[in-house]
Amino acid sequence: MAADSTVSVKFNLNGTKVEKTIPAQRTLLEMLRRDFSLIAAKEGCGKGECGACTVLLNGRPINSCIKLAASLTQEDSVETLEGLLEDPVMKKVQESFVSEGAVQCGFCIPGMLISSYSLLKNNKKPNVENIRQSLSGNICRCTGYTKIVDAVKKAGKA
Ligand code: FES
Ligand code: FES
Repeated sequence: MAADSTVSVKFNLNGTKVEKTIPAQRTLLEMLRRDFSLIAAKEGCGKGECGACTVLLNGRPINSCIKLAASLTQEDSVETLEGLLEDPVMKKVQESFVSEGAVQCGFCIPGMLISSYSLLKNNKKPNVENIRQSLSGNICRCTGYTKIVDAVKKAGKA
C-alpha cells in the first residue's frame, strides 16, 4: 500500500454511524483526534504501553494508538469518553475520582475513566485486586495509584 493512499472507513462512533476518508496508515487514536475532534483519548507512549489512549471497541477497552483505523468495519462500535459523559456509571466514576482526589495532572485520567467504567459495567462490586488488574494497562506518573483505586472502589459501592 502506498504511504499516501487513503481509505474510507465506516463504523459506529459514540452511537452514531460515521464515515470518513483517511490516510491508510492512520491509527484510531489519530483519527479520533484529527478527524472527529475527540481529544479525550491522549497519545502518551504511542506503543500500546501506557493506556492514555484507551477507548472502548465493541464494549472492551483497547489502546487506540496501536489500532489501525482502516481495520474498523461497519459492525464495529467505538466509544470515547465524550460519548459516555451522560452515562450514570461514568458520572459516578468521575464524581468519585474528584471526591477521592485521584486526579493530578490529568493526562492519564480519560484512559483511567474508560478502564474503570468498563470494569464497573462488568463487576459492580470489584475488590482491590480486580481494580488493580483492570487498571494494570493504565500508567499514572503522578498519583501513586492508591487514590485512583479508592475512587473506583467508592464508585462501585455507589
Ligand atoms: S498512547 Fe496508547 S498505550 Fe500509550
Ligand atoms: S494524574 Fe498525571 S499522569 Fe495520572
